[in-house]
Amino acid sequence: MMNDNFKILLTPEQIQTRVKELAEKITLDYSSVDNSIRRPVFICTLKGAVYFFADLTKHIKRPIMLDFAKLSSYRSGTTSGDLEMQNDITTDIEGRDVIIVEDIIDSGKTLKFFVEHLKKRNPKSIKICAFLDKKERREVDVSADYVGFDIPCGFVVGYGLDYAEKYRELPYLAEVIDPSKA
Ligand code: IMP
Ligand code: MG
Repeated sequence: MMNDNFKILLTPEQIQTRVKELAEKITLDYSSVDNSIRRPVFICTLKGAVYFFADLTKHIKRPIMLDFAKLSSYRSGTTSGDLEMQNDITTDIEGRDVIIVEDIIDSGKTLKFFVEHLKKRNPKSIKICAFLDKKERREVDVSADYVGFDIPCGFVVGYGLDYAEKYRELPYLAEVIDPSKA
C-alpha cells in the first residue's frame, strides 16, 4: 500500500526494541508488588492497542492479568467526538494495580474518560502506558507514565492504528500525508 501519501516513521525493528525496553522498565517498577496474589491488571484499549498490548505483555517478566476494553468515540476520520464505553472489562480491579495500555494519546479525552471510569471501582493504582504520545495536541490534563515514542502532530497508521478502520495490520508506523487521499 506504500505510495507517496505515506511516510514510514518507525520500522518493525525500532518498534520491537522500544516495546521490549518499556516492558523491562514496567517489570522493574512492579517487582516489589506481591503480584502472585494480586497480579497487576493490564488493560488493552481496543482496537488500536492490540499489537502493542500483545507485544508488551509478552515481555513482562511477572505474573499479570489481561483484560480488554472498547471505547467508542464517534470518531469519523481524524477528529474526536463524544465518548461511550462499548465493551467494559470483566476483571474485578478493586485493590489492584491497573496499567492501561493505549495506542496513542491525542487530545487526551479518551484516556481521561477511561481513567475516571476505572477509578470508581477503587483500584489500588492506575498507570498509563501509551505506545505514542502527541503531547502538543493535548486538550485535557492527562499524561502517560510510560511512553513508547513522542510524535509530532500528523496522523499516523499501522501497528494497530487505523484511518477509518484501514491500515491497522501494517507492521510499521507510517504518517499519512493527506488523510483525504488515504
Ligand atoms: P484522544 O481522545 O483525542 O486522545 O484520541 C485518542 C484516540 O484517537 C486513540 O485511541 C486513537 O484511536 C485515535 N487517534 C488519535 N490520533 C490518531 C492517529 O494519528 N492515528 C490513528 N488514530 C488516532
Ligand atoms: Mg481509532
